[in-house]
Amino acid sequence: MTYQCLTILGSPNNHGNNALILNKVIEGIKENNPNIKFTNIKINNLNINPCSACSNCEQKKGCIIEDDMTEIYTKLNQSDIIIVAAPLYFNSLPAQLKTLIDRCQAIWGSKYRLNDSMIDKKENKIGGFISTAGQKLTSDRFKYVSGTMDLFFKAINTTYYDNFFLGNIDKYPAKNRIKLSKNSKKFGKRLINKLKERD
Ligand SMILES: Cc1cc2nc3c(=O)[nH]c(=O)nc-3n(C[C@H](O)[C@H](O)[C@H](O)COP(=O)(O)O)c2cc1C
Repeated sequence: MTYQCLTILGSPNNHGNNALILNKVIEGIKENNPNIKFTNIKINNLNINPCSACSNCEQKKGCIIEDDMTEIYTKLNQSDIIIVAAPLYFNSLPAQLKTLIDRCQAIWGSKYRLNDSMIDKKENKIGGFISTAGQKLTSDRFKYVSGTMDLFFKAINTTYYDNFFLGNIDKYPAKNRIKLSKNSKKFGKRLINKLKERD
């Protein structure tokens, strides 16, 4: 069985901590699962305009804005696993990633206004979220971004299965952390194992 995995690097830094962690997660998945097809997108390389709240998506399926989101809607639909990695910005997400998420309002419209979903009713897509913070890790450090990711995954019919959170990342960058490679790979394996339970 071949699975499709979509990864979204939500940091504007293509070579920072989230990029490194995400690469390790991908390695972890690939190590035991040669049959996974990856689409890896970097938010900084995309042209995505903000949702203008025009409500056209509540009258006609899809978004009227023509940009890189068109391809991403297709990928969100086709993927079995969706992994997002993003730094904490003012307790929230980088604006570039939030723009992508806001554009998923078109999916919401297709489901709840038009009853003609842009995402096939293929249930049990698996979602994972990686995030890093400059401040130290506390139990509520990522609570606001977790709420946003929860709604994002719901919009795209995906089970928000697991998180991988790191604090103190500016003082102790990912590249210097001894257990990071092992723990990132484990996170990737947890996601794929959950997916395998589905079939
Ligand atoms: C605009 C901006 C806002 C930030 N806001 C926060 C914050 O609210 N809380 C926090 O812990 N770190 C904050 N940081 C630090 C980043 O989370 C940290 O540098 C990031 O996780 C590094 O990830 P990257 O290397 O993948 O870009 C902020 C950084 C920037 C540039």
